[in-house]
Amino acid sequence: MKKLIIGNWKANKDEVSTSAWFEKFARLANFDVDQVEVVVAPPFNLLSIARQKIDELALPIKLAVQDLSPMPTGSYTGEVAAGNLHGLRVEYAILGHSERRRYFLETDHLIANKVEMACLANIKPVLCLDEPYLMTQSRAIKKELLPECVVAYEPLSAIGSGDNASISEVTSFKDRLYAVCGEVDFIYGGSVNADNVNQYLLVSRGVLVGGASLDATNFAELIRRSVVQNE
Ligand code: PGA
Repeated sequence: MKKLIIGNWKANKDEVSTSAWFEKFARLANFDVDQVEVVVAPPFNLLSIARQKIDELALPIKLAVQDLSPMPTGSYTGEVAAGNLHGLRVEYAILGHSERRRYFLETDHLIANKVEMACLANIKPVLCLDEPYLMTQSRAIKKELLPECVVAYEPLSAIGSGDNASISEVTSFKDRLYAVCGEVDFIYGGSVNADNVNQYLLVSRGVLVGGASLDATNFAELIRRSVVQNE
């Protein structure tokens, strides 16, 4: 199965640095699309410029959003609904990230509605889970939608800290996840970088990368090493 590498830019970059990132990435990255699927999640306002650069440079990169409205298009001030993304060819939506739960008080119920909206729009949810949410979140989500999700194990202590989770922590979470949800598509996120990516790809299909995706050189190197591991 193809490896999945998703770069989450969070609330970083502007139009100029987004263009520069894609131009640099195009010069550096050289990966086999049969082996690895590369996805980038810019902030909403930079999706158009990202799409433009991906097309212009003919890059084999897919687009993700970092959030999605739980509502359809309509009178919901400040929201970005799936229908607003038409034409941008967004394929993934990162949902339930701990930063959204923590700073914007997202609940399991709200996240479950976002998952539903993404699935309705044929956008694949990348559902972020950590130990405390495993039971409640998996119960909140419609059973038939779980197999549609990529589930990312995102331990709070590992996010942005440099304190990446051990392989045994990842495998024990995966075992519990499989016991609760069945054998869903599973990736890991939390301080993943070019030096440690290989170990996570031995126990998961892919990685969700924050800090190490912001610099095109680092991200291209991380992808290069993730493919080498497979050879
Ligand atoms: P990090 O972020 O790679 O900077 O730890 C990961 C994430 O938030 O998904």
